Amino acid sequence: MAVSIKSAREIELMRAAGKILAKVHQDLGKQLKPGMSTLEIDKTGDEMIRSFGCIPSFKDYNGYPASICVSVNDEVVHGIPSAHRFLQEGDIVSLDIGVIYKGYHADAARTHGIGEISEEAQLLIERTRQSFFEGIQYAEEGNHLYDISNAIASYCDRFGYGVVEDLVGHGIGSRLHEDPEIPNFHQDRRGLKLRSGMTLAVEPMVNAGRLDVEWCEDDWTVVTEDGSLSAHYENTILITAGRPEILTLTDMEIGAGIGTA
Ligand code: CO
Repeated sequence: MAVSIKSAREIELMRAAGKILAKVHQDLGKQLKPGMSTLEIDKTGDEMIRSFGCIPSFKDYNGYPASICVSVNDEVVHGIPSAHRFLQEGDIVSLDIGVIYKGYHADAARTHGIGEISEEAQLLIERTRQSFFEGIQYAEEGNHLYDISNAIASYCDRFGYGVVEDLVGHGIGSRLHEDPEIPNFHQDRRGLKLRSGMTLAVEPMVNAGRLDVEWCEDDWTVVTEDGSLSAHYENTILITAGRPEILTLTDMEIGAGIGTA
């Protein structure tokens, strides 16, 4: 299917959705602490999203039962919030959140450390984030989609990480998942040509160990097969003639020079 090019009006709405989502990520990220249940995270986040006049993109999407995906340690993505699962000091937790604002989606994920975490975990989080920025250096009109994929993969390879291949990034707009699929692993071809006005959710999922993943009994939660830690970093971006506009960066990230340096 053809990849949609957003109109000026659509881009405005996606910018607004992105700003709200960034605020939700920042505020919710600050509230994480040992002893908090993953359901509490979902509830708090759901309330925040609705307080901004948005609807959570994931709620009831293909039957997903919650508003936010909360994935702890060896959980890669799509962890279902639970009243019985509590964050512990030393955990890493990935929050994947989507919001709909006036019919348009924004989608972003961050991995946070809970209290003091191991150096291995900290590096995994930072390098997963950096892999996103390595990739989007190529996200520019006239370049090709898989330039992004190959840059992400090459960067992660340097550390011996396993880049997940069973799940990919995606186009986004009036639907959460639009064409194209955006793999985070090596591609032989260069893929489609990028054009201004495309909006993409680029989302490397990176394992400290091997790339293999499996689905849990709940049919949602994806975990690393070898039990290694996994991190996730995702933003919704807008392709332009120059550097891409990242629609879901938090003020804290911008303040720290992340993605703007
Ligand atoms: Co996504």
